[in-house]
Amino acid sequence: MRSALMLSVLGSCALLAGCGQGGGEKSAGSASAPAAEHEPTAAEKQAVLDSLPAPYNTADIDNGKMKFAMCRSCHTIVEGGANLTGPNLHGVFGRKAGALENYKYSEAVKNAGFVWDAEHLDKWLAEPRTFLPGTKMSFAGLKAEKDRIDLIAFLKVETGYKAP
Ligand code: HEC
Repeated sequence: MRSALMLSVLGSCALLAGCGQGGGEKSAGSASAPAAEHEPTAAEKQAVLDSLPAPYNTADIDNGKMKFAMCRSCHTIVEGGANLTGPNLHGVFGRKAGALENYKYSEAVKNAGFVWDAEHLDKWLAEPRTFLPGTKMSFAGLKAEKDRIDLIAFLKVETGYKAP
């Protein structure tokens, strides 16, 4: 009688241990979730877009993405992305111009002395070489204002911008 009880206790311990392990696997699974959080969900991206002031909050992100094709050969936007011909643009909003340690800027950008925001980026993208003479960014400029708005909104959503 006693030993049967012992066995069943042992048995349930073994079962519990088994359950514990299962739980362990589960929490290991959720522990890897923070890594996935780096890639925001569609809902989170939409929330960033909604948080922007007009006219950016109603921008056409798909058009912005299409316009970014013009930048992609020189710029990455993902967190920790490589510097190509141009610097990685993750976190560019709120960052001082020319501030990445591991990228060699022109004096023009390094000494620009402003922090990137939508207004500065709009002027920069319209005509980089007029806005900061001496820049080494060889990009003629994006003439259509609507395209710049869409591209800036796309960049805000994709480069980890958070509303202050
Ligand atoms: C032919 C390559 C090239 C293309 C195309 C290009 N860029 Fe650049 N970009 C550069 C280079 C080079 C720099 C560094 C400029 C300097 O130091 O004078 C730069 C700098 C920048 C910076 C300043 C970053 C900082 O850390 O201060 C921004 C913002 C930027 N580019 C955005 C864009 C966007 C948006 C596009 C697309 C519309 C674009 N660039 C297209 C090469 C390019």
